[in-house]
Amino acid sequence: MAAPAEVQLQIADTSGVMQSMRTEEQKAPLPVVHLSNSPSSSTLALLILSLVGIIATFALACVTLGYVVDIDNCDDTPNEVVKVVQNYTHITDYVATCLDGRHNALTGPSNAITGENICAGVKYTVEGIQDSDGNYMFANSQCIVDNIVAVMEQAGGNVTVGYHGTMDSVGRGDHPIQTPYWQAGLCPVNVHWHLGAEHLSVGQYDEKGTGPSTASDEEPHRKLLAGDVRNGNMCHLYDATDETFTKEYDWKHCVDMHVGQTYEVHWPHSAAGACGTPNQYQTPFYDGVFCNLGLVNLSIVEKQVGVQAQVFTIVNDERYYYPDLMRGMIVDGARGTNMTYYTGSTTGTSRDNQICSNYAPITWQVDRVCSVISASSFDKMCADMKAQRDDMSDDFYAHGSRITVADHLTANNQVWKYTE
Ligand SMILES: *[C@@H]1O[C@H](CO)[C@@H](O)[C@H](O)[C@H]1NC(C)=O
Ligand SMILES: *[C@@H]1O[C@H](CO)[C@@H](O)[C@H](O)[C@H]1NC(C)=O
Ligand SMILES: *[C@@H]1O[C@H](CO)[C@@H](O)[C@H](O)[C@H]1NC(C)=O
Ligand SMILES: *[C@@H]1O[C@H](CO)[C@@H](O)[C@H](O)[C@H]1NC(C)=O
Repeated sequence: MAAPAEVQLQIADTSGVMQSMRTEEQKAPLPVVHLSNSPSSSTLALLILSLVGIIATFALACVTLGYVVDIDNCDDTPNEVVKVVQNYTHITDYVATCLDGRHNALTGPSNAITGENICAGVKYTVEGIQDSDGNYMFANSQCIVDNIVAVMEQAGGNVTVGYHGTMDSVGRGDHPIQTPYWQAGLCPVNVHWHLGAEHLSVGQYDEKGTGPSTASDEEPHRKLLAGDVRNGNMCHLYDATDETFTKEYDWKHCVDMHVGQTYEVHWPHSAAGACGTPNQYQTPFYDGVFCNLGLVNLSIVEKQVGVQAQVFTIVNDERYYYPDLMRGMIVDGARGTNMTYYTGSTTGTSRDNQICSNYAPITWQVDRVCSVISASSFDKMCADMKAQRDDMSDDFYAHGSRITVADHLTANNQVWKYTE
């Protein structure tokens, strides 16, 4: 039979190579060069190359292991970590282990940044502003007084193409910013998200969507927070038979988040933010929006303050990883291009169709399309939030969603953008 003969031949050949290699190693420091002109020596070269490969892999593994130990000891500086490491798990582990959340990359071991957080607490200053009758101008108030609408337009409402509210914002001269915010001189000052969508886009995220939390009110995430976290509108992408939507992710930085769930992410922007400084990102977002209070002109506030909103269903699938979610909504392909612009207010569950927000009018730019995103994208965002000077920990988990705004409290100035 031919096969055993071949095997025998190979064994014989290999042992010959081993033998000659040993001999050559004893004789000369450069055996590959020396033997490179015969057929058996090319086999030898291959063998040596693979040995070198194995040794290199082993060395790399040692370096990696040693490196992990370094993270545990927190000896490396963040810059060294970024240089060595090719994937974000190491970086986020480093941030969590070595920089301890609030003692973040900026105020950490290097002490390179020594200024004040000038935005901290501005929210309380704003809340204290009174009108001539002594009423707190920005406190929530009754939406309807004596059968008359007593507030400005509210957000989040129906953003479906064709939908107009019935409040005459156009007649009052309120129009949303219709360029990207950066072109209008605004920068992002915060990121936070809501459980389910506060807005409603028919067929994308609405009352008919589904997700894991619609299965039971006993979901653990409903218990962890004080009070009830109201779920909002849901996307239509959830598939209970597909692991992508059901296999939980090993969350390290965001709190109480779930694969398969719909979240509406908000990026409040402001022309009065601490743009381009270590104080840019703030929690609560009001500190960021009003940081340079003197720059706010209340008669054109919808041109100075705007929010981007984008709705996602979380998947356990790294193909949908996006590393920079903290900086603003994704504008790429089908994302961030089918937009509804309108004016409204701040949102959240302290407002409904009886009690309204007086932080209005402000611009809203809302992506009408729901898209999937990997859980790791959110976790990376939370790690980035931990690296800000301000303590953003109150925004590491989902906030509740308000109920959809009624027609009579929604503006009539909607502008619809489409994918080109
Ligand atoms: C990223 O780093 C982690 C931690 O060392 C490791 O477990 C994981 O396999 C790495 N992922 C990739 C894609 O290299
Ligand atoms: C939202 O607006 C669309 C378009 O006008 C309309 O068909 C739909 O009924 C509205 N949905 C709700 C819940 O108001
Ligand atoms: C505020 O904006 C209005 C409208 O553009 C303008 O007339 C007014 O001068 C501004 N006020 C200040 C203090 O800049
Ligand atoms: C997005 O825009 C495309 C192209 O204009 C359109 O076909 C699609 O229906 C839009 N989707 C939504 C949800 O508005």
